[in-house]
Amino acid sequence: MSAPLLPALDKTSLTHAATLLRGGGLVAIPTETVYGLAANAADADAVARLYEAKGRPRFNPLIAHVSGLEMAKRLGVFSELAQALAEEFWPGPLTLVLPKHRDAPLCDLANAGLDSVALRAPAHEAAQALLRELDLPLVAPSANPSGAISPTTAQHVLDGLSETIDLVLDGGPCPVGLESTVVAVDGDQATLLRPGGLARSAIEKITGPLAMAGDSDAPQSPGMLKSHYAPNAAVRLNATTRRDGEVLLGFGSIAGDINLSARGDLVEAATRLFAALRELDTKGAKTIAVAPIPAEGLGEAINDRLRRAAAPRDTA
Ligand code: TXA
Ligand code: MG
Repeated sequence: MSAPLLPALDKTSLTHAATLLRGGGLVAIPTETVYGLAANAADADAVARLYEAKGRPRFNPLIAHVSGLEMAKRLGVFSELAQALAEEFWPGPLTLVLPKHRDAPLCDLANAGLDSVALRAPAHEAAQALLRELDLPLVAPSANPSGAISPTTAQHVLDGLSETIDLVLDGGPCPVGLESTVVAVDGDQATLLRPGGLARSAIEKITGPLAMAGDSDAPQSPGMLKSHYAPNAAVRLNATTRRDGEVLLGFGSIAGDINLSARGDLVEAATRLFAALRELDTKGAKTIAVAPIPAEGLGEAINDRLRRAAAPRDTA
């Protein structure tokens, strides 16, 4: 049976979603970055079902979504720097990886048994209303089958997961369009684990220059990028022309079949990236060629996702 889809900003839908989540259900929710597949962070059975629904090959640690700093402090231990970052950027597309609180209401499966926890307060009215109504943290990876392109509309969620989840809340297209930036904070030290919807330069105003570490999606062995965010078609980067049998994803003056942003705006390009890859994938071309994207601002995260989409596929 296909999961029902309900309007996200409707009192009845939110009450229904909260009831499902309290009972161990899986509900896809809109956030400002991408749609998340939510489960009660404390419910080990629900979190196990969540990994199964996504077909995750291994138990990656998940982000616990909170309404704000107060709820976050039940889960993680905030240093002064961590608190400053949360105060500046929450609610918003920043995930903080912090030492786990001793009494955190979090099952071991949710953070893969680590002594750290990833926390984020999403800036989306529906996600906020749901978290406040539940008063429980929700773990939520992107609501797509493992390895596939993250969903930025409710329809994208249904395209990938309709048979394995209980409900989709439709909050329209996601305004940011890229997953959150993940930063680990250890005392006064901050490390960038994943570039994302909040530009590095904004964070560095508070942290100073950020070291970049590999996150769990990053190279497993030197020189190997793990395939992720991948369309069915192959992906060729830094393309200035369309070769035979290719479709072209454009940027700026390279128009292509779809232009991520004719005016060369990286925020607009981020918002459109995943939907554009999905749309080009439906054209049945063998390869999606992608125009060069500048590496500044959100370009860092866009290029990160494109490199993963272009990485050699796991054929196992
Ligand atoms: O924007 C987003 O972040 C979306 C929306 C739904 O909030 N969520 C998302 O979740 O992208 P997911 O599961 O696809 O990515 C979570 C990232 C992974 O790179 C994971 O390795 C990292 O966060 N992460 C989570 N917990 C961690 C921990 N304790 N230590 C290090 N990295 C962690
Ligand atoms: Mg994901």
